[in-house]
Amino acid sequence: MFPTVRMRRLRGNENLRRLVRENHLSVSDLIMPLFVCPGKGIKNEIASMPGNYHMSVDVLVEECREIRDLGIPGVILFGIPESKDAVGSDTWSDEGIIQKAVRSLKEKVNDLLIITDVCFCEYTDHGHCGILKNGTVDNDATLLNIAKQAVSHAEAGADMVAPSDMMDGRIGIMREALDTAGFSDIPIMAYSAKYASAFYGPFRDAADSTPQEGDRRGYQMDPPNGDEAIREAELDMMEGADILMVKPALSYLDIIYRVKSEFSMPVAAYNVSGEFSMVKAAAAKGMIDEERVMMEMLTSMKRAGADIILTYFAKDAARVLGQREK
Ligand code: PBG
Repeated sequence: MFPTVRMRRLRGNENLRRLVRENHLSVSDLIMPLFVCPGKGIKNEIASMPGNYHMSVDVLVEECREIRDLGIPGVILFGIPESKDAVGSDTWSDEGIIQKAVRSLKEKVNDLLIITDVCFCEYTDHGHCGILKNGTVDNDATLLNIAKQAVSHAEAGADMVAPSDMMDGRIGIMREALDTAGFSDIPIMAYSAKYASAFYGPFRDAADSTPQEGDRRGYQMDPPNGDEAIREAELDMMEGADILMVKPALSYLDIIYRVKSEFSMPVAAYNVSGEFSMVKAAAAKGMIDEERVMMEMLTSMKRAGADIILTYFAKDAARVLGQREK
């Protein structure tokens, strides 16, 4: 009549819960996204993303030292260029904002992975992720520029490149270009399943990368689709990607789970700007407990199967995890 099996037995106190806890977030899982801009001594807070800044290279160096000292393994860089043009030529210029930032970081900050986002939307005057032709992004013309950009980032010293453009064939062409240029050891973290999501809103303010006309639904994935994410991930794997990413994370935990189960590959989840800003805004209004919600969200990505989490919470989470260890 009364239950013999009682699930509550192992929930009675924290030590019991610790013993049977299945998933653990670790500082080793985290990558912090950062925004770099031209100038000197600049640290402007991004209005829609509290605690995140546009930083000039000198300030970025200080920030990266702090991130390294918190034990976070890596950062991913997004650039705000001095000027934009139709093709985003800043992205493959020796004097481009990312190239300058990477060179300086590699010289001044040791023991931190410097990953670069490879895309065009922050660098084109129209705000699309490649070369525009007849109102749409020309896939194959854009591919050649993606390869140039990736090689240029590697030449500046990037430890890993992460293409977020969603053109077809980009991983293959990047891998070949990197190998030919002598960078066969540089890994590619592919934004494999990147959805056309409203959760990128705050980032587009931050990066000034909202398309002037139209949207990204012609190249990013349609949110209702799941099987298609598996095909995208498989193509990237076959073309030589080293890490497969799902983006955004929270509304796509099923996709993280499927990609992890389907391919025995390292999987990254991108906890995007909108997911971050919602928590910050609700917490600022006293509606939720920010720290607990943050940890619950990040842990859910681990439980879904993510090995790596790119998150604007990286520093906050590292501090919480450091506290717990003591
Ligand atoms: C494209 C890119 C975007 C993000 C990362 N890389 C924006 C987009 O596709 O519009 C979004 C990240 C975020 O929202 O945190 N270069």
